[in-house]
Amino acid sequence: MKNRLNDPEWKRAMKWFYRYLSKYKWKEAVGLVLVTVCAVLNIINPKIMGFIVDDVIGDGEGIAGRMGILPLAVALMIGCQFVRAVIRLISQWLFETCSQDMLYDMRDGVYRSLLQKDFSFYNRNRTGDLMSRQTGDMMAIRHFVAYVIYSIYENVLLFVIALIMIFSVDWRIGIAMMTVLPISAFVTYLQSKSIKPKFMKIRDRFSSLNAFAQENISGNRVVRAFAKEDYEIEKFDVENAAYRDAELDAAKIWTKYVPIFEVCASFLTVILMLVGGIMCVKGAMTLGDMVIVNSYLWMLNMPLRMFGWLINDYQRFTTSVVKIYTTVSEKPKITNPSKPKNEKKIKGEVEFKDVSYNVEGEPILDHVSFKVKQGETIGILGATGSGKTTIMNLICRFYDVTDGAVLVDGTDVRDMELHTLRDGIGLAMQDVFLFSDTIEGNIAYGDPDCTLEQVKWAAKMADADGFINEMTDGYDTVVGERGIGLSGGQKQRIALARAILKKPAIVILDDTTSAVDMETESQIQKDLKLLENETVFIIAQRISSLKDADMILVVENGRITQQGTHKELVEEEGYYKTVYEHQLGNLKAQTA
Ligand SMILES: Nc1ncnc2c1ncn2[C@@H]1O[C@H](COP(=O)(O)OP(=O)(O)OP(=O)(O)O)[C@@H](O)[C@H]1O
Ligand SMILES: [Mg+2]
Repeated sequence: MKNRLNDPEWKRAMKWFYRYLSKYKWKEAVGLVLVTVCAVLNIINPKIMGFIVDDVIGDGEGIAGRMGILPLAVALMIGCQFVRAVIRLISQWLFETCSQDMLYDMRDGVYRSLLQKDFSFYNRNRTGDLMSRQTGDMMAIRHFVAYVIYSIYENVLLFVIALIMIFSVDWRIGIAMMTVLPISAFVTYLQSKSIKPKFMKIRDRFSSLNAFAQENISGNRVVRAFAKEDYEIEKFDVENAAYRDAELDAAKIWTKYVPIFEVCASFLTVILMLVGGIMCVKGAMTLGDMVIVNSYLWMLNMPLRMFGWLINDYQRFTTSVVKIYTTVSEKPKITNPSKPKNEKKIKGEVEFKDVSYNVEGEPILDHVSFKVKQGETIGILGATGSGKTTIMNLICRFYDVTDGAVLVDGTDVRDMELHTLRDGIGLAMQDVFLFSDTIEGNIAYGDPDCTLEQVKWAAKMADADGFINEMTDGYDTVVGERGIGLSGGQKQRIALARAILKKPAIVILDDTTSAVDMETESQIQKDLKLLENETVFIIAQRISSLKDADMILVVENGRITQQGTHKELVEEEGYYKTVYEHQLGNLKAQTA
C-alpha cells in the first residue's frame, strides 16, 4: 500500500475537503476551545475529591473545624459539572451546525460539478455509484466534522491533562502510567495501516450494491417482462454478500485491535493498584493522592478505549473524501472558451466543415460537410447506427469533433459560450426523458417563467393539446418518473412541445415522431411549417416526415452519401430511393 503522506491524490483530496471546512473553521475552533474548557474543568473535581479525603475526612473522624467546608466543596463539584454540561451542549451545537452547513455546501458543490460533466462521464459512470457519493460518502464526512474531529482532540487533550495532573501528584506513578503509551501508539499505527484498504473496498462494494439496486429498480419493468425476478435476486444477493463480507473484513481488523486498547486501558488500573498501593503502604504517597490519581484514571482510560474506534472513523472519512474527490476532480473537457466569440443569441446557421469524429480510434463520423441557412428545414435519413444522433450531438457540443469544425452562425462551437449555444437549441432527444412533474412543468422546463398560454401553444404545435385536455387533471397531471403513465407517442409529443416552447433558433427532432401514428405526424409536420425563422433538423425513418424539407441528408456509415431535396433524391440511384420505393410499396400494399 502506498504511504498516504506521499500520495499526492490523497493530499489533493484533503485540500479539497479543507476548502469546504475552512469556511467554518472559526466555528469549529470556538467549539474546540469550549471542548478545551470542558476538559480543563475535569481537573477540578478530582482535586476537590482529594481535598475532601485528605483535608476534611482525614483519618475517618473528620478534621476539626473543616466539616463546614464539605457542603461548599460538594456544591462546587455540582456547579462544575453543571457548567461543563452547558459548555458541552453549546460546543455540540456548534459542531452539529458546522457539519450540516459544510455538508450543504459540499453536496451543492458536488451536484454542480456533476451537472457540468461531459456526456462521456455519464457514459462511463453508473447512476448508483454517483448517488452513493452524495449519500453514504457524505455521511462519513459529516460524522467526521460533527464528532470525530472534536473527539480525537478531546481524547488527546484529556490524556495529556490526566498525565500532567498525575505527574504533578507523583512523578513516579506518572512514569508507570506512561508505559502503556508506546504499545498504544504502535497498535494505532498497525490498525490504521491495515484498515485503510478495507474501507476502500467497503466503499466500492457499497457503491456497486447501490448501482445494482438503482438499475434494477429503474429497469423493474424489463425484469418483470422477462420473468427474471429470481435471477436478479440471485445477482443482488451476490452484491449484497460482497458488501457484507467487505464490512466483516474490516470488522475482523478492528475486533483484533480494539481489545488491545481495552487491555491497555485496564492495565492502567492494575498499575495504579500495584504501584500506588505499594507506595501508600510504604508511606511514599497519601491515600488522598491515590484517590486523585484514581479519579484521573478515566481520563487516561477513555482515550485509550476510544482510539480504536476513532481510527476507524477517521479512515472511513478519508476513504470517502478520496472517493468523492476522484469523482469531482475529473475536469470536463467541454468547457467555455476563455474569450467567447458569439453574440448574445444565436440565429441558426449551421455548417459542418469536413467533420470527423472518432471514439477510441473508431470512426463514427467521417469527413461530414454540409451547410444550412437560418430558417431552413433539414431532413436526415440513415440506417440505424449510421451517425445521425452523433451529428446532432456535435451541434449541441456534447462532444468535440476529432477533426474539422462545427460552425453555428459562422463561429466554431468551441469558441462559443456553452449556455448561449445550448439555450438557442431546442432538442427533443431520441430516448425521451420526462421529469416526475406536471405536464405543464415538463413542457415549460426550458422557460419556467412562461405563461400557460405559451405552454398550450407549444402543446398544440406538437399535437399534444388534445390528449392532455382529455386527462382529468389536464396540464396539471403529474407524470411519473421518466414519464410513466404516458404512452410512447404521448411522451414524444410532450418532448417535442418542450423543445419548441422557448422558440429556439435551432430545433432538433431526433426520431421524435417515430411512435406517433401517420395522421398525427402529418398534423405535426403542418404545425412545424409555422416555425419560419427557426432552423429545424428532423431525423426520421419515414420518408413522409422528411419529404418537405428544404434539404435532406442521407447518412451511411458515418458519411453523407446523398444530399438534396426529395424531388432530386428520388431521381437518384441510392439509399434514399430504395427506402422511398420500399415505403411507397408498403403504403400501396396497405391501401390496396
Ligand atoms: N458515446 C459513444 N461511444 C462509442 N460509440 C458510440 C457512442 N455514441 C454512439 N456510438 C456509436 O456511433 C455510431 C453512430 O451512433 P448514432 O447514435 O449517431 O446512430 P444513429 O444514426 O442515431 O442511429 P439510430 O437511428 O439507431 O438512432 C453507432 O455505431 C454507435 O454505436
Ligand atoms: Mg439516433
